[in-house]
Amino acid sequence: MRCLPLKPDAVVVINFGGQYAHLISRRLRELGVYTEVISCNELMKGYGKDMLKQSKAIVLSGGPSSVYGNPNDIEITKEILSLDKPVLGICYGHQLIAKAVGGHVVRGKGEYGRTVINIVDNDNLFSGWSKSEVVWMSHRDYISKLPSKVKVLAISEKGYIAAFRLSDNLIYGVQFHPEVTHTTKGKILLDNFLKIANVPRKWVISNIVDSIVEDLKVKLKPNAKILAAISGGVDSTVASLLVKKVAGDRLVPVFVNHGLLRENEVDETLTNLEKIGLKPLVINAEKVFLEKLKGTRDCEERRRIIGELFAKIFKEIGEKDPSIKYLVQGTTYPDVVESGGVARADKIKSHHNVAGLPKWLGLEVIEPLKYLYKDEVRRIARYLGVPEEIVKKHPFPGPGFAVRIIGEFTFEKLNVVRKATKIVEEELREKGLYDKVWQAFAVVGDDKWVGVKGDSRDVGYIVTIRIVVSEDAMTADWFRIPYDVLDRIARKIASEIDNVTMVTYAVSSKPPSTIEPC
Ligand code: XMP
Repeated sequence: MRCLPLKPDAVVVINFGGQYAHLISRRLRELGVYTEVISCNELMKGYGKDMLKQSKAIVLSGGPSSVYGNPNDIEITKEILSLDKPVLGICYGHQLIAKAVGGHVVRGKGEYGRTVINIVDNDNLFSGWSKSEVVWMSHRDYISKLPSKVKVLAISEKGYIAAFRLSDNLIYGVQFHPEVTHTTKGKILLDNFLKIANVPRKWVISNIVDSIVEDLKVKLKPNAKILAAISGGVDSTVASLLVKKVAGDRLVPVFVNHGLLRENEVDETLTNLEKIGLKPLVINAEKVFLEKLKGTRDCEERRRIIGELFAKIFKEIGEKDPSIKYLVQGTTYPDVVESGGVARADKIKSHHNVAGLPKWLGLEVIEPLKYLYKDEVRRIARYLGVPEEIVKKHPFPGPGFAVRIIGEFTFEKLNVVRKATKIVEEELREKGLYDKVWQAFAVVGDDKWVGVKGDSRDVGYIVTIRIVVSEDAMTADWFRIPYDVLDRIARKIASEIDNVTMVTYAVSSKPPSTIEPC
């Protein structure tokens, strides 16, 4: 089930179900350490125990539960504490440690958002902090009592225990969230913990690249060729460049035009790829893809169809050249997590690059980026000299516009989505907002709205604009777009696209929504 073997000097983050485990993980990586997120359920099923033993330090994340509802979490925590590793418990993790060592956790009035805490002990965890600092809290339960072997390090304005340390071990708990930027000195605290835990800082771009290249040298057979499916996005481009470093001319880059791409995307991509020495074989397969998709109503079915057609194309190329043994894909860490590739993570959507390629393909899949978050991929891209147009390009789903059409898939709706997306992107670029957001696009469904164009009744599509900010697509918030920009986008879409009579703006965060509509 779990497919990621642990790297040396790793810090393991135990995910107790909060939204913050990946944020903790990313912050630690920014501080130069390799991290792995394991969910508590995974541990309960027996996965990941070796990883804990090999790790340099362990962080317990926050979570929505109460320590009383989850005896299993207490058992896991006791097991972790018995490993004699440096541990940092955050929020729920802080309460779990307190309970596991004999403290009391009870229901209180809670502390939410900006909170001031006072440091009452000059432990190194708070080195660089003033006596009084602003932190970000989100908890209802609180620790009412701790055994004598525990030292209180900080107390909140309301008098709750905000941080503690076990006197004889490097085991800490903090009630607040150091991983969020609202905790002004949160990153300093995480850095302090890594220093206390003596974790080497080897997770820097040049080392990451070297380590991926070394892995590939071991993995790739000397004379075998490697097919690289390049979409023009930063992930597949970087994955291909890394493989090219090892395989040279044995890399066979392929660009499949499935007809679901943004306007001018094919030409722009090919021009940019050429700048970095990638000249892919272009397969123009729009007709085949679009005919198969026509009339479908379910996005998961579309993903399956698209995945199968891609696989067929790869198979045909492989049959023409039997020395092709591998297929490179730009899968990243969140793709693996969200597609249920990590045990116990729920499958949200089967992102087609991790949906599992059919066995008959006969090619071994190589995913050099599957340990990495998007910002790390972008940093590697810059390190490798990838043009900024590719580095900064918004993520675009593998099935393209097929997952931005709700309800029946028709060519008319595809045309609407493509034109509207172009307008959204152009307007944001013009106002200097494109680089400030994670993704910005249009969506169309089957619902219609009565309009009046040129004094006559017109019934047209409703186009929804979705613009989100995010750090890694695991969570996202809707972008507070200036009204005048939104107004311009809405006017342009409704006036320049014939069969559109209404434009709406999507204002739900992830969770509860996802970024793409289906
Ligand atoms: P959701 O919609 O799940 O999206 O919040 C999270 C991120 O993944 C992208 N996404 C996909 N990428 N194939 C992909 O390669 C897919 O089927 C797919 N569905 C969503 C999405 O654009 C966002 O960045």
